[in-house]
Amino acid sequence: MNTLRIDEGTRLLVLTGAGVSAESGIPTFRGSNGLWENHPVERVASPEGFRDDPSLVWRFYSQRRAGAAPCEPNPGHLAIAEWEKKLGDRFLLVTQNVDGLHRKAGSQRMVELHGNLFTTRCTRCERTPFEDRLEYPEGTVPLCGECGGALRPHIVWFGEMLNPRELIEVGEFLQRLDTRLVFMAVGTSGAVWPAAGFVDGARKGGGQTWLVNADPADNADRFHHFVQGRSGEVLPKLVTFE
Ligand SMILES: NC(=O)c1ccc[n+]([C@@H]2O[C@H](COP(=O)([O-])OP(=O)(O)OC[C@H]3O[C@@H](n4cnc5c(N)ncnc54)[C@H](O)[C@@H]3O)[C@@H](O)[C@H]2O)c1
Ligand SMILES: [Zn+2]
Repeated sequence: MNTLRIDEGTRLLVLTGAGVSAESGIPTFRGSNGLWENHPVERVASPEGFRDDPSLVWRFYSQRRAGAAPCEPNPGHLAIAEWEKKLGDRFLLVTQNVDGLHRKAGSQRMVELHGNLFTTRCTRCERTPFEDRLEYPEGTVPLCGECGGALRPHIVWFGEMLNPRELIEVGEFLQRLDTRLVFMAVGTSGAVWPAAGFVDGARKGGGQTWLVNADPADNADRFHHFVQGRSGEVLPKLVTFE
């Protein structure tokens, strides 16, 4: 297996997708054919779906909370948290996962691009999104204790925009001039934005690019290096620090 050497003149941007949590027991979307109890996931993960049937959406997310709560980080999450400890501000993690396992593994310099399963926000008032580990009984929609509006999961749904402030943070890290960039995508099918965009951005700036994935992802040929394998097995052995 190739190893990635990182010295003091290098910074590392890691993008993770559902694949890094598969070994912790959290299924990927493709693993379930894009269906949940025979509903297309768009029904339970879009603003339209929430408008039509908010209690169905809350049943879906209550079930996902119940599924993710007992899960523990695997050696892939732990390796990524170790890299951050070594690199400090020469490191940034961008995750498309909402399961909170990176934080549980100790990652802090992190952008949760698609939100967090254990965070809730109000659809009506401006209160700050808050931690919420509750699972709501079938047929109910939780209401805001401050304004009475419907609460919703703090998740970026299909058709919603990513947080522009977070995208700027990633863009600034990509474009830094003080160090050489290494970009690594892990456990993400890679065909869709932003993963696809990040690899192109990194290459344009002269960065080295790595993909670690169980299957050859759709854009594997856009990366300089492709390591095929399970992230929990590959990541702990992939990087050496000089
Ligand atoms: N854990 C989570 O939080 C979670 C789980 C499912 C879906 N989602 C959401 O659904 C969207 C799906 O996009 P995606 O690209 O992240 O996931 P995806 O399901 O489209 O693709 C996952 C990729 O990971 C690979 N993979 C599976 N097991 C792996 C392993 N052990 N090691 C390495 N690679 C492995 C698969 O081959 C696949 O290419 C995401 O945006 C995310 O928000 C999140
Ligand atoms: Zn409110």
